[in-house]
Order: sequence, then C-alpha cells, then structure tokens
Amino acid sequence: MDFNPNQEYAIAARGVRKTYRASGKSPAKEALKGIDIHVKRGSIFGLLGPNGAGKSTFINILAGLVGKTAGEVSVWGFDLDANPRQVRAALGVVPQEINMEVFFTPLEGLEIQAGLYGVPKSKRRSMEILRALGLEEKADAYVRNLSGGMKRRLLVAKAMVHSPPILILDEPTAGVDIELRKQLWEYVMELHAQGVTIVLTTHYLEEAQELCEEIAIIHNGEVVACEPTEKLISSLDRKMLMVTPAEELNGHLDLGAFDVEIKQDGRLAIPYQPSKTQVAEILESLSSAGVMVKDLSTVESDLEDVFLELTYRKSA
Ligand SMILES: Nc1ncnc2c1ncn2[C@@H]1O[C@H](COP(=O)(O)OP(=O)(O)OP(=O)(O)O)[C@@H](O)[C@H]1O
Ligand SMILES: [Mg+2]
Repeated sequence: MDFNPNQEYAIAARGVRKTYRASGKSPAKEALKGIDIHVKRGSIFGLLGPNGAGKSTFINILAGLVGKTAGEVSVWGFDLDANPRQVRAALGVVPQEINMEVFFTPLEGLEIQAGLYGVPKSKRRSMEILRALGLEEKADAYVRNLSGGMKRRLLVAKAMVHSPPILILDEPTAGVDIELRKQLWEYVMELHAQGVTIVLTTHYLEEAQELCEEIAIIHNGEVVACEPTEKLISSLDRKMLMVTPAEELNGHLDLGAFDVEIKQDGRLAIPYQPSKTQVAEILESLSSAGVMVKDLSTVESDLEDVFLELTYRKSA
C-alpha cells in the first residue's frame, strides 16, 4: 500500500522503528522493526499480538509518549514530527497502565482534563461521558476508592473529553468484569456509530474478530498480517478435529493423508484445512483404520498457532 498521509486514513505509519536504549543490565531492545499500518477513517481497527510484540510501543509513539527511532507517522492528516499538537488533539488514548491522579473526583478529573485540552466550559460534557460509562454515581467519589474496572472506564472517559476523532484503547478489557466490559464495548460501539475511528489492542483473536473490521497482527516488532477481519480468519484456514476414540489406542496410528497426534488423555488431534477437507473424509479414514469414534469436536486454531503460521509463512 502506498504511504498516504492525507484524507483517507485516520492513521498512516510507514517504516516505524523503535529501539529502546540499553540501560543498566538490560541490553538495547528493537521493539519495532519497521512497521507499516494504515487505519481507515471511521473504522474499528484491531492491533493483535502476544506479550512484548510491540503494540504499546506503537501506540505510545502515536500518543507522543515514546520517541520513534525512524519512520513516518501521520494522524488525521498531520505529521507527527511537524505537528505534534494537532496530532495530540486528534487522539484520545487510553493507556495500558492505570496511572491517574487520585486526589480528584472523576468529575473534577474530567473537568481538569478538558481544561488542559482547552475545551470551553460551554462545550464540556463531563457528566454525559461519565453517564455513558456507567460512572455517574461515582462522579463525586474519590478516585482512589474506585475499583480497577471503574478506573479503567474513567481513563476512557478522560480520553474522550476533547471529542477526538480517534480513540485508541490499549488493552481496555484487562481487569474489567464481563458486565462492565459489555458496557465499555457498547460505549465504544456508540462512538463508532457516531463516526469515531477506534483502534484497540488485544491478545484475544476472538475479541478482535468480534469487534474489528480490520486486524493487524504484530509479532516480534513486525506486522505479520494486516487484513480485513473476515479475510484474515478465512485465510488462516486451519482447524483441529478432536476425536475421543471408543477404545484406547496403543501407540501408532496411520491415517494416510492426515496428520494425527495422540494426546495424553487419549484423544486424537487431527489438523485440517476446512477449505480442502470435509470432516466426513477424516471420519472415513478413521473408520478404515479401525478406530471407533465415541465423541468429536472441532476447535479453531488458537492465536499462538496463528502467529506461528504467519511468521513461518512470512519467512518461508
Ligand atoms: N521503556 C522501555 N524500555 C525498554 N524496553 C521496553 C520499554 N517498553 C517496552 N520495552 C520492550 O519492548 C518490547 C515491546 O513491548 P510493548 O510494551 O510494546 O509490547 P506489547 O505488545 O504492548 O506487550 P503486552 O501485550 O504485554 O502489553 C518488549 O520486549 C518490551 O520489553
Ligand atoms: Mg502493551
């Protein structure tokens, strides 16, 4: 894709590198190895990857918290190096780490934040935002008395005080219970419906699959895949058939065209490509091999498999 810093993209990044300097006993770390990411305006974009992949590093570069070593970034048409203030105004960032002023109430905190962004009093909507995030009752409580999940939602509220066109959420659901998580996503979807561009990071393929229109997978500081969600999922084309045999199998089993692994609990794990293979064919070959099936299920490939496959594909 061509680098297009202009109208089409909310965020355009090209060749972004970050090497953290060595300090004390830790050696220098190349956290981003030249990544290209384009986020369309108005979309929900997922940044997926295991611990240490470089997701937060990328987000912190956008947020101006970490300086990039190389590369170009433009946010809402503004170059990060030339127009850092405009970039900051275009972004609401919810950081991964919860760190906030605990001496103010949520309402005071939002008002201060709005002041920092120069939002005039008449344009402030602090209570409205608190209400949308289910924090209305806590508006005048001490922040230090909020639960972890409430603090996280308060961070989302703070990110939205200046009504930025882009909201970036770094691991927004860590430590948030199911009910509140639902509420958080409802709010995010509502913002999306209003036209806000959403970027979120997560470890969970399922979460990204459910919410995001496009997903970039980062692994070891590199983008190993970046595609519309459906395309990505179908291109993975890998499932596992798990079979519980009626009788315990001893030792070796040959299924001809299919690989099979006998698990410790006696179940058989048979990987296959749904686009090429029908489960019935696998069952036939089990039957020919004299295996009676007691139970079976299929599982999607998990994220670790996906990373391995994509990384392998890339280096192959
Ligand atoms: N301030 C820092 N100084 C030195 N190294 C850092 C710093 N921040 C991150 N790193 C290293 O850079 C790499 C990428 O870290 P980063 O926090 O971007 O990963 P992540 O994808 O957000 O992981 P997680 O899913 O655990 O949040 C890691 O190896 C990490 O140890
Ligand atoms: Mg992170």
